[in-house]
Amino acid sequence: MTFKIVTLFCSFAIAFGLEVNDKVLECPFPEGQDVATEEKCGDYSACQWTDGLCHMRSNDEAGYYVSGQMESNSRGFKVNLQKKDMKTSLFGGDVETLVFEVIHHENHHLQIKIYDPETSRFEVPIPLRVPDTPGVSPLYNVKISSEGQPFDFHVTRAANGNSIFHSIGPLTFEDQFLQLHTQLASSYLYGFGENPHSSFRHVFDPRTTFPIFARDRGFTTEHANLYGSHPYYTLVEDNDGNTHSVLLYTSNAMEYSTFLLPGGEPALTLRTIGGIIDLHFFLGPSPEDVNSQYSQAIGTTHFPPYWSLGFQLSRWGYNSTTNIRKLQERMRFMNIPQDVQMLDIDYMDGKHDFTFDPDHFHDLPELVQELHNHDLKVVIILDPALITNFDTYGPSKRGKASDVFLKWMDQDLVPDNQKPECEDYMVGHVWPAEDVVFPDFLNPETKKWWANELKLFKKVIDYDGVWIDMNEPSNFDTNQPWSLQCPKNHLDVPPYPTQAAFVGDNKIKRLSEHSICMSGNQTDGDSTFLHYDVHSLYGWSEIVATAEALKEINPEKRPMVLTRSTFPGSGHFGIHWLGDNTADWEHMRMSIIGMLEFNMFGIPMVGADICGFFEEPDMEMCARWMQLGAFYPFCRNHNTLGLPDQDPTAWPEVAEVSRSVLSLRYKYLPYLYTLFHKAHMHGSSVVRPLWNVFPSDVGSRDVDDQFLWGNGLMVAPVITPGATTRDIYFPQGLWYDLVSGQLEAKEGPITKRVEAPLKKIPVYVRGGIILPFQKPSKNTVQSRRNPFGLTVALAEDGMASGSIFWDDGDGNQSMMKSYMAWFSYAQGELKMSIKHGAGAVAGLDLDSIVILGSSNAPTSIQVNGQNIVSWSYSNHVITMYSLKWPMDKEIHVQIKF
Ligand code: NOJ
Repeated sequence: MTFKIVTLFCSFAIAFGLEVNDKVLECPFPEGQDVATEEKCGDYSACQWTDGLCHMRSNDEAGYYVSGQMESNSRGFKVNLQKKDMKTSLFGGDVETLVFEVIHHENHHLQIKIYDPETSRFEVPIPLRVPDTPGVSPLYNVKISSEGQPFDFHVTRAANGNSIFHSIGPLTFEDQFLQLHTQLASSYLYGFGENPHSSFRHVFDPRTTFPIFARDRGFTTEHANLYGSHPYYTLVEDNDGNTHSVLLYTSNAMEYSTFLLPGGEPALTLRTIGGIIDLHFFLGPSPEDVNSQYSQAIGTTHFPPYWSLGFQLSRWGYNSTTNIRKLQERMRFMNIPQDVQMLDIDYMDGKHDFTFDPDHFHDLPELVQELHNHDLKVVIILDPALITNFDTYGPSKRGKASDVFLKWMDQDLVPDNQKPECEDYMVGHVWPAEDVVFPDFLNPETKKWWANELKLFKKVIDYDGVWIDMNEPSNFDTNQPWSLQCPKNHLDVPPYPTQAAFVGDNKIKRLSEHSICMSGNQTDGDSTFLHYDVHSLYGWSEIVATAEALKEINPEKRPMVLTRSTFPGSGHFGIHWLGDNTADWEHMRMSIIGMLEFNMFGIPMVGADICGFFEEPDMEMCARWMQLGAFYPFCRNHNTLGLPDQDPTAWPEVAEVSRSVLSLRYKYLPYLYTLFHKAHMHGSSVVRPLWNVFPSDVGSRDVDDQFLWGNGLMVAPVITPGATTRDIYFPQGLWYDLVSGQLEAKEGPITKRVEAPLKKIPVYVRGGIILPFQKPSKNTVQSRRNPFGLTVALAEDGMASGSIFWDDGDGNQSMMKSYMAWFSYAQGELKMSIKHGAGAVAGLDLDSIVILGSSNAPTSIQVNGQNIVSWSYSNHVITMYSLKWPMDKEIHVQIKF
């Protein structure tokens, strides 16, 4: 072990500038800083009023000091911390003695825990994946102050001393309020969610605060907490692009504030209202290293079935099988690719899960069969809440028998008027007219019961995938007289409820708003948890249960589950969409930021509702959104009840744009699929911001309206009404227009204006990359039978490389059954070498090779020693066609110039 434990205290005042910094560490006012007055400030003994600001007292007054000797162990060390003065407090319940523990997992993964050694407190019950033995040369050092001195700690990068986490001011550790601050190495801060961020890079001036707590909250431009919880950020430290990330592993409500210290240094405050402080650091050093390291710790992404990469179509309010048939006819007539037809709650009978409407959807089983005959897949929605008709409704009856529903934590909390058959369940109201109860998906019994219900329904409706919605969990009108009443106790109205209780439409200023009560009990079979602590794990637990159930039903196939609420690790089980957005250009723009963030969160299969969920898009917006959405990994058009159709056939212009851009997507699905395979195997991201691929290009760090698929394909969508051109940031290297094959930029980094009339989305392939493609078709069943091709984009040095992964598209992973080949091009020679699994591509041909950026015309071309005549050269593009070369045989192309 090479931890460097340095006693730093004598240099603290210089290193941290404590005097000054302490005065800017704002005291937390539940209702926000606007209400801060000198008088109110006086209520907090840990705070002081200076120059109009209620700020934390200094570390040596209100914080902890290091007490006793460090205890080393095989994985790190521990040291005790002692509260300096128990009379200084914010909300009471201060823990007097704490343990600060450093746990070394991997060279790139450090954990720091601060906890109460006397009384065990809640910890997230989902273990991260760490090795049995730690790495031997950590990329970090940890320093803490010496015994008897005010507690501070500093994590640095071993290679260059960059600051990774530099605590400032007092640590607060109270029963329901934990707070720490850090000075950041730079202001290139990204991540945290699920929140609507108007820029990908965080804003520090003015001070900005966002809460994190799972909540059914439609997309908004306010500083709101949305559906999932990802207390995780990434920071680019310096001009070289050294990058790290930090997870504050908590499922309690929390918030983060970004602000500047008086000297202009960026800083961050982290607050959570339960559990312990459990920090995980991932040291990179490249942005993509950070993504892989984090994903591997939380569980790399599931490998989506190939068909789920196709275009998915949905709406709430088809209202009948007849309307879906008509839609399907329009889609076929207009020749628009589609792979998935989704069914929203209007297919259900009375909005009850596992039923279908006997009137308007009476022939749903037949419709599903018809869709299957057309090579489409069917995904059904399911909501977690089930009706309380325990005698007549099978799923609830069986659920009760297996004791799967979430209960009040205390019999005394059961409302007096609760129907006896509802036992001590928490009873709420969601879509059905009847009362509902909520399955506790953390419970292993619930998983078994859920799997059985899914299995029974599969016999009724032969669905292919499941969409789990409303799983924050959502409850309607909580605390209104006609709905679920939550006790106004320390759980629902904690001393500091975070901004989650104050932002936007939270009318009652309580954590339970639009959800169930925090005073519930849940269990994983061994331990009992308060809903207060595990609220944000509800969606995670449901996706685990659902993905496992689908695997049980069909062990041969990879499941497809789409979820609204997520937590670190949800990507291991499925897909996320960005929730209820609006047909609004700003929402369209911000969806790019959401997509980039979820790639950082290890859920790369993500997208927003194309053309917007609420309100009506116009033709231009829908056309532009179809273009952008064609490059969301999860590509689905969806809208709400009562609005006109907005599917691609709704306007002839949108139909034309959609046909063309979806065909482009389908053409490059082999590349996207290969990226997903890498993400699944190694934790890499799929969609990347420019700075991920060009970490030392400082100019790229503010670009959040462009993105890349992997390292090779850059998308610059038009997201402004009326625009027919757009300014594009081209990083260094060569960039070719993907469609025309012409060189667009070579002098980067540079911002260039390009033409982008309505029918065009600017998309570029980067010099040096080989993209595999396949002739597109109207769905992936058909396109997967088509011949392959390669787009070879030459770099300045005339070289390029790439790879392809292929398998049956939705089976289990196995080296035997999957194919992997590498391509490389240099000095007129292109080679394809097969790594494994030639059998997986039997019968498929490589038919065309397109080389972009060849300054000379070939004189002859040979494929495996044979001259070919089917080639052309124009505008620096060499096109070889009709090659009919079997993909299971290695290929060697020689071009003479
Ligand atoms: C809310 C979901 O976010 C939305 O996509 C869905 O259409 C409705 N629930 C109805 O199920």
